[in-house]
Amino acid sequence: MAKITLSIIKADIGSIGGHIKPSQKVLAAVENYVRKKREKLIIDYYIGYTGDDIAILTTHKKGVLNEKIHKLCFEALLAGTQVAKSQGLYGAGQDLLVEAFSGNVKGMGPQVAEMEIEEREADPFLAFFADKTEPGAYNLPLYLSFADPMHCAGLILAPKLKKGFKFVIMDVNYTQGDKIIELVTPEETYDIAALLRDNGRYIVESIFSRASGEQVVSVSTTRLHNIAGKYVGKDDPVMLVRTQRDFPATGEILSPYAIGHFVSGFMRGSHNGPLLPVKKNSQISFFDGPPIVNSLAFSMRQGKLTEPADCFDQPYWDYIRMKISQKAEEIRRQGFSGPAMLPMSELEYTGVMETLRDLEKRFKVRKSGARK
Ligand code: F6R
Ligand code: MG
Ligand code: MG
Repeated sequence: MAKITLSIIKADIGSIGGHIKPSQKVLAAVENYVRKKREKLIIDYYIGYTGDDIAILTTHKKGVLNEKIHKLCFEALLAGTQVAKSQGLYGAGQDLLVEAFSGNVKGMGPQVAEMEIEEREADPFLAFFADKTEPGAYNLPLYLSFADPMHCAGLILAPKLKKGFKFVIMDVNYTQGDKIIELVTPEETYDIAALLRDNGRYIVESIFSRASGEQVVSVSTTRLHNIAGKYVGKDDPVMLVRTQRDFPATGEILSPYAIGHFVSGFMRGSHNGPLLPVKKNSQISFFDGPPIVNSLAFSMRQGKLTEPADCFDQPYWDYIRMKISQKAEEIRRQGFSGPAMLPMSELEYTGVMETLRDLEKRFKVRKSGARK
């Protein structure tokens, strides 16, 4: 079997009524561009949206970080941006931080998750798309699906899974290059947990099977604020996960999303909120959130995709959505106080910093005993 590359490139290029969702015309412009220009480059593609972001999933044989593939997707997003501008959409082109294309879109704003694989006879995989949150949002679900038998029964029941997995974790605070560490389960599970507790800094970039060496997971690790040097929106990460047989089953990958764990993002990218699993093409609403994630399952043959199965479109998840919505409501009840709003280091709107600088000048140190 020939090698196949899966690529997701996703960006916010403008949305209706604030940061709700892209317009049909913008989506059509992106799709038309990909369809017309795909030529022999792309085997198949899927285009959809999650909140205010448009994602392009392509299959091809060009490998990861391929200039032609990235250029095609970048130009499709630029074509969409033109339409977004013409319709007066909010934040038109906002994630295309660098206008001139140079080599690949990593570091230019869009989120990228790619994986080159030796296609198995049947190679089911999941594509995840999140909005109003950051790449570390996938840390806990990945830990639970790949290292905890409470979610991954296969770690007990399937010998190849029991051999464990290699986690590649990136320190995204380091901006001079990719600073990574490789840790393996089960031996180094606690070390992995020690890093993954910090979702803003240490991010799972990829996971490999120790039984076969095959790559199972690829997560986008771009942090927009490290590119732009200032707040330009949350990173809204994407992820690819291959499933079944020697990898966790699809249901084991989905299981942790029933938790609705608190992640950063939400309104102005400056709050904590529970990650809500939603159906495909869901929009943003309450308090510019809540942080959402959708998951599409695909099968493929030589890179030719089936239609997506919408993983969170099922009655069980309706019940989960109710429960997680209650978590969202609870944390919102305390507004700006304590853990509801992010700590200063993660707060990317600068307004409050200016206020604090001004107030600092008005602070006085009281002379001892002179309490008046
Ligand atoms: C968060 C996000 C929104 C905006 C908010 C204010 O990722 O995109 O919550 O931060 O709607 O947007 P501006 O400052 O553009 O009015
Ligand atoms: Mg946005
Ligand atoms: Mg977004």
